[in-house]
Amino acid sequence: MNDNARATQEAVITADGVSFSYRSGEYVSRGVREINLEVMRGEFLVILGRNGSGKSTLAKLLNGFLVPDTGKVTVLGTDTSDDDKVYEVRSKVGMVFQNPDNQMVASVIENDVAFGPENLGIPREEIEKRVTAALEIVGMSEYRKGSPNKLSGGQKQRIAIAAILAMLPEVVILDESTAMLDPKGRREIMETVLKLNREKGMTVVLITHYMDEAIEADRIFVMNDGEIVSSGAPREVFADAESLKAAGLELPAASRISLKLAEAGYDVPFAITDEELADSVCRLK
Ligand SMILES: Nc1ncnc2c1ncn2[C@@H]1O[C@H](COP(=O)(O)OP(=O)(O)O)[C@@H](O)[C@H]1O
Ligand SMILES: [Mg+2]
Repeated sequence: MNDNARATQEAVITADGVSFSYRSGEYVSRGVREINLEVMRGEFLVILGRNGSGKSTLAKLLNGFLVPDTGKVTVLGTDTSDDDKVYEVRSKVGMVFQNPDNQMVASVIENDVAFGPENLGIPREEIEKRVTAALEIVGMSEYRKGSPNKLSGGQKQRIAIAAILAMLPEVVILDESTAMLDPKGRREIMETVLKLNREKGMTVVLITHYMDEAIEADRIFVMNDGEIVSSGAPREVFADAESLKAAGLELPAASRISLKLAEAGYDVPFAITDEELADSVCRLK
């Protein structure tokens, strides 16, 4: 399932030796340190880490909202510290945030989705097309003329995603966009994200502290205390339980159970998904 077939060899975003600290007066607090990573076109990348590990700081560095103290971030070859290119960079790397209520700007859904392209001076007809396509992808077409106020959290986040898509970004970063949602809302967003990546080929960076949201990633980066402490395919990253524990993270439930069963002497290989676990349990004699 994590066959990387969609991912290409072309880096859309590159972070090279990137460090950033927050300063106010004398007080300095580390955001991230010595980050090296590439986001490849078409991949589904997950950044995992507990609260305060530096995920949001990294996200803001990747879309040029913050500029590194040392090191360099490039988006499609453009250095994010280039003042003349700030807007270009931000429009290529769209961000969806945590709070569904803070991301709506208009009182009618289609206007909300149209807001970004309108500000870019895109012709009316083209905006229409983009709004239609974006709402279609997130499964919210029928709500087009409605008000965002009546929507569930999951629906609001899908509109927030549509508003980003209408800008035709190269990458969509979701910064804990499921954290405030109920389980149904979380599922809606994860399904939307998978569809975006798998069917539309969108490059997705999903930031989360939920292990189960990382299972379907092509690659995972684990952060702790501002640094990347491990990376790789989900199976590799989850197999290193020690690193995860040190980073304050727990294995997915299926992995934990498979390890317990193996410890108890059952012939159950390390599982990362519920399906795998169920499958090997069914095979037990
Ligand atoms: N605006 C800020 N001013 C000062 N320190 C900050 C600010 N934002 C984040 N930090 C600090 O940077 C570190 C990383 O935070 P953040 O990137 O928000 O982590 P995460 O998103 O993983 O919770 C934390 O120690 C946090 O306290
Ligand atoms: Mg954060």
